[in-house]
Amino acid sequence: MLVNLKEILDMAEKGGYCIPAFNVYNMENVIGALHAAEEMRAPVILQVYPRLMKEETGYFLSPVILAAAKRATVPVCFNLDHGPSELEATRSIRYGATGVMLDGSTLPFEENIALTKKIVDFCKHVDVQVEGELGHVGTTADDSMDEFTTASDAKRFVEETGVVCLAVAVGTAHGRYKKPPKLDIERIKEIREATNNTALVLHGGSGVPDEEIKKAVKAGIRKMNFATDLCYAFIDCLAEDAVKPDRAVAVDTFMKRPIEAVKEFCISRIKLVGADGKAE
Ligand code: 13P
Repeated sequence: MLVNLKEILDMAEKGGYCIPAFNVYNMENVIGALHAAEEMRAPVILQVYPRLMKEETGYFLSPVILAAAKRATVPVCFNLDHGPSELEATRSIRYGATGVMLDGSTLPFEENIALTKKIVDFCKHVDVQVEGELGHVGTTADDSMDEFTTASDAKRFVEETGVVCLAVAVGTAHGRYKKPPKLDIERIKEIREATNNTALVLHGGSGVPDEEIKKAVKAGIRKMNFATDLCYAFIDCLAEDAVKPDRAVAVDTFMKRPIEAVKEFCISRIKLVGADGKAE
């Protein structure tokens, strides 16, 4: 069933676990993630990078996500990931998204608050909630890590914007890590306390050691994003199969194993963040 961002995060808060958010890029990714969620009886978020919403891909992919969510017997939220502006936010809602991330993390603090609040205000008219980001979570290609989120800034940001959840910079980055990251677990706890237990989001979930992930969930991370490793699961399988002499040529048949690879990856993350068996 299709649910919105608040509904799915409330489930995680109530149960003290974390919702895995899988970035999807095509129909096969959606099918793999959905099969994993169904088999694990887990609530999941399917999300889309904003560039896809600017290209025609978003136009075609969104109905696939919606069809999957509506058919699912577990809660599924359709979220825009890293929306930089009103354009992507509005378009995503038009395409049926039930959650919107507004990423103003590279803007000055006051501008981030103003833009995020503006998006929160128009999203509430259509029962869609907003994820904000404070303290920029960069990429693993960056040489230095930007400043971590502070509890006092987070408190002000949450109070003034009305976001339903907040992505925080606590040691992760997007992409493949050169060496495994160590998370600032104390900071996660401090931010939770300062923000009246607001649901916190961890971006850059790929490659974070399992033990760090478990500690982060315990400290109050309620949504965790996985993109890069889902892509590798899909592409590595596809590349391996493509050179086999007896490979299937019909694309739908050929895609069966890559779909299965995505499913297995998603199952492993669902279990790790404690979302298995939590669908009500
Ligand atoms: P990874 O690509 O590192 O898994 O990060 C995903 C993410 O945070 C998407 O917003």
